[in-house]
Amino acid sequence: MQYGYFDDDAREYVITRPDTPYPWINYLGSEDFYGLFSNTSGGYCFYRDARLLRLTRYRYNNVPTDSGGRYFYIRDGGDIWTPSWMPMKSALDSYECRHGMGYSRISSVRSGLAFSQTSFVPLKDNCEIHKIVLTNESKADKDVDVFSFIEFCLWNANDDMTNFQRNFSIGEVEVEEGGSRIYHKTEYRERRNHYALWAVNVPVAGFDTDRQTFLGLYNGFNHPDAVFAGKANNSVASGWAPIGSHHIKAHLKPGESKALVFVLGYCENPDDKKWASPGVINKAPANALLEKYGSPEAADRALAALKDYWDALLGRFSVEAEDKRMTRMAGVWNQYQCMVTFNMSRSASYFESGIGRGMGFRDSNQDLLGFVHLVPERARARILDIAATQFPDGSAYHQYQPLTKRGNNEVGSGFNDDPLWLICGVAAYIKETGDFGILEEKVPFDNREELADSLFIHLKRSFDYTVTHTGPHGLPLIGRADWNDCLNLNCFSKTPGESFQTTANFESGIAESVLIAAIFVFNGPDYIEICRRTGRAEEAAYAAKAVASMTETIKAHGWDGNWFLRAYDAYGHKIGSHECEDGQIYIESNGFAVMAEIGLDDGRAQKALDSVKDKLDTKYGIVLQQPAYKEYHLELGEVSSYPPGYKENAGIFCHNNPWVTIAETKLGRGTRAFETYTKICPAYREDDSDLRRLEPYVYAQMVAGKDAPRFGEAKNSWLTGTAAWTFVSISQYILGVRPVFDGLLIDPCIPVAMKGFSVIRHFQNAVYRITVNNSAGVEKGVKTVTLDGKPLDGAVLPALGDGKTHEVSVVMGLK
Ligand code: BGC
Ligand code: NOJ
Repeated sequence: MQYGYFDDDAREYVITRPDTPYPWINYLGSEDFYGLFSNTSGGYCFYRDARLLRLTRYRYNNVPTDSGGRYFYIRDGGDIWTPSWMPMKSALDSYECRHGMGYSRISSVRSGLAFSQTSFVPLKDNCEIHKIVLTNESKADKDVDVFSFIEFCLWNANDDMTNFQRNFSIGEVEVEEGGSRIYHKTEYRERRNHYALWAVNVPVAGFDTDRQTFLGLYNGFNHPDAVFAGKANNSVASGWAPIGSHHIKAHLKPGESKALVFVLGYCENPDDKKWASPGVINKAPANALLEKYGSPEAADRALAALKDYWDALLGRFSVEAEDKRMTRMAGVWNQYQCMVTFNMSRSASYFESGIGRGMGFRDSNQDLLGFVHLVPERARARILDIAATQFPDGSAYHQYQPLTKRGNNEVGSGFNDDPLWLICGVAAYIKETGDFGILEEKVPFDNREELADSLFIHLKRSFDYTVTHTGPHGLPLIGRADWNDCLNLNCFSKTPGESFQTTANFESGIAESVLIAAIFVFNGPDYIEICRRTGRAEEAAYAAKAVASMTETIKAHGWDGNWFLRAYDAYGHKIGSHECEDGQIYIESNGFAVMAEIGLDDGRAQKALDSVKDKLDTKYGIVLQQPAYKEYHLELGEVSSYPPGYKENAGIFCHNNPWVTIAETKLGRGTRAFETYTKICPAYREDDSDLRRLEPYVYAQMVAGKDAPRFGEAKNSWLTGTAAWTFVSISQYILGVRPVFDGLLIDPCIPVAMKGFSVIRHFQNAVYRITVNNSAGVEKGVKTVTLDGKPLDGAVLPALGDGKTHEVSVVMGLK
């Protein structure tokens, strides 16, 4: 069953009933200030760091789910209801939530009163705007009371949920303008120079800032005493739980509308300008925000600017084809999710609590792949941040903190795939932009300026780290784990509660990873090309030798007969082999080895992918491995600790499905490539939402595998490397519009049934309008390409860089 539909022209997903199988959310904000916003107005917001600078409180894993957000209570005569459905679960005559690009709009009607709430973060300002419109659709006058409600978080989200002996005494607020402006200033006196603002642009009848006074101690959000009494108490919080609530009275004649603008903002003062007078905070930044967004017209203008921003961004890659599910995902939602993963990394979603992880070294590098074409300058800055956390020997902090940009000691290092992802991210950036100059940027190692060297040297250290850390078979040592965080081959953890990710781990010097070997061979040609094109011929020759030798090593020691092995454990035993009882075949090494074109020459590539199809494929995607581990293996770690079918233990871990998709295109099997693409693509499961449960417009990290009782159910939507890799697979390998060092290669690999498509691609300051004709019904192969009417030699469009639009016509077929 469906709970909504795609409105493609508006680039919105329209949710038509509030009781979705799980909260279906959106992200507000694009650079520093972010809000998570569910279809019932749940969620929270933060400035830059969801852990350290959280403005509003959110209780994860709460009962009922998703309670807490920006709420508006209506009192229409005696009738009390919440137009976003939650928290009162009010019966509504109509309801709709439109999630768009960086904004959401909830509209509902009850008893002749229409409500709409448009919520977004304006470009460049640190606040959420909630524009409310009330319309009297009835035939009689209405007296309506509106009560707003948010609950402040005492900034540090971790402390906020744990340190109550302290928290219950420290909360402080200020109230001005009779209550229309509420300021949350906990800890401002001491070590903070920031406060939060919750304001409305009209005079109010009253306000509350103390939670207990507003709600009643034993009430939930669904029964606030103040609303039921029809009157705010003008409470000023002192300790306990500061909130912000305005009480607004509106008289509406039949047909009349009234608009209110609420601003929820983050304000910062320089240390010497913190105070207006003793004990009174300097409101200058708040006043500036309110002046700017103090009217419905101003809010509308800010929303229009946001829409223009997204029009321009998504105009950089768009696709037209018969299959609308593909075009809306590839052209809109997949790219939108790539922006979110770039911004959030793995920090804040409805599954990531915002207090856990920093920016992952490997995650952030992979996120670049789907983002670099959108805002290359931000990708560039990110690359330099990431590289600065690398150690001089090429290894890397597994994570770094976005606020400090420093490596995170708690998680440490030793994930031996990490260094190679830097080559991958930088190569993608250079192919997109042609900016080889980035290689000469001086970048610190371990955040220490005195250790700075060129970015090129960082890449070399990455490359060399793999070359110099090999085990008994000559394959790369796995270290703590490789891409699969749960393959903890040097961990041997017996202590309950100990983290597999961080626990002291010994380096056996034996456990090896075939996946790292394949990642090395995959990135090899790019590294070699980078060396060649920057006059480093000797390094290129050395690298070519190392890559050729690793390829031979994989063929000699990484092949199981019908597929690629996964690894060797600390005893030197095979993992991912037919000799194993469980975990006989894994997806990652097979997808990546074929992506790296290993075995294209001798039939192994095809054999490997056939085995993947035969042993790992399901109707909802390809599972991570088979058979699932049924018992815990000390020598394998977390992967064998999960119940069969979930997460890395044979779940459909979506991230590496597109590796197989790309690998299939290497074999030219376009029909199969497209099949693997569609199976995990959420838009294709829209009418299966009761089983899948999560948003039909974004990828999830995992779908339960065939061994799980809930086979087909998705978890962990939004923050997953799946976003970037699926975008790469569909845009660059299926549709085949792929940046290469010489320009834009056109190399589609599509189902025979797809008779054509067109793509508009902005690339290095020129626009290419590409039309692909496949009336020949082939899966791969370009017969002719014309550029502005002239036949092109080969299929690489040169980077014309002239700011103009160019017509490209491609005919597929045999040469
Ligand atoms: C999860 C992985 C995750 C890791 C690091 C593990 O428990 O299964 O998917 O990457 O934790 O947080
Ligand atoms: C999620 C992590 O963010 C990512 O780095 C890792 O590769 C996958 N889990 C697989 O374990």
